[in-house]
Amino acid sequence: MRNLECRTHHSLVLQRLGEPECLALAWKVASEDDLDRAKRWFQGKDLPATFVERHGQGRTLRTCDTLGMPLEFYSSMAPAACKLQQYDGYRGARIQRLDHFNCFSPDVQKSYEFWSELGFRLTEYTVSEEANNTLWAVWLQRKGGVHDIAFTNGRGPRLHHFAGWVPSVSDLVHCCDLLSTTGYLGNIERGLGRHGIGNALFLYLLDPDGHRIELFCSDYLTVDPDLVPKRWEFRDARRQTLWGMPAPRSWFEHGTRFPNVGLTDPLINPQPVLAH
Ligand SMILES: [Fe+2]
Repeated sequence: MRNLECRTHHSLVLQRLGEPECLALAWKVASEDDLDRAKRWFQGKDLPATFVERHGQGRTLRTCDTLGMPLEFYSSMAPAACKLQQYDGYRGARIQRLDHFNCFSPDVQKSYEFWSELGFRLTEYTVSEEANNTLWAVWLQRKGGVHDIAFTNGRGPRLHHFAGWVPSVSDLVHCCDLLSTTGYLGNIERGLGRHGIGNALFLYLLDPDGHRIELFCSDYLTVDPDLVPKRWEFRDARRQTLWGMPAPRSWFEHGTRFPNVGLTDPLINPQPVLAH
């Protein structure tokens, strides 16, 4: 599947399996040399790293992070025509591009250190003052937005959601109108609302397999090298919901498993903040 802005073969692959799982989170690197460099980097950390075949794309490195989350890296993919200005063919949620992944981590500090060393930069973070300023969540970026990947304290590792970027809040409203009139009203899990974190306007859905999808817009640029990461305190409910209804309990507890990856309880209490 491809988003409207996608100029290559695919941005999302769905595969029929026995259980709903996330087989890999994938990233593009700048060159074939970077793939070889990445393989050495992961092997240097005693992590498995092998090249695999993937339809529609070039050499693909399959590996994992220190928690066991399956990762893939590629540098080339077959080109395809961009559909951004084929407005007469727009259907559904009108997702323009795949924006980020968000994962439960049982040890956010460990995830932060690993992904920072890999080259991701911190934009916003939450600390729990009640737990000796332990990191509760981090947002990390490569492309100059608020995040390409985020980690939140919780039983994991699991994928919490992947997010599609839409140009405006009217696209989020349009999606609600579509869902409510096509038999999918019950698939809306949370929103509309605005997160304090990232300034994001959001809508969260569960697909028929239970994979969570966020549709969002209205984050901000982070390309300034002097950007100071924004700190949030766990007790500040505005970080989750600047306005809108509080998140349901499922939003804190439900996630997508990675295959053959054991789950670990978080280091600190994941008790959610459910109300202002
Ligand atoms: Fe998100």
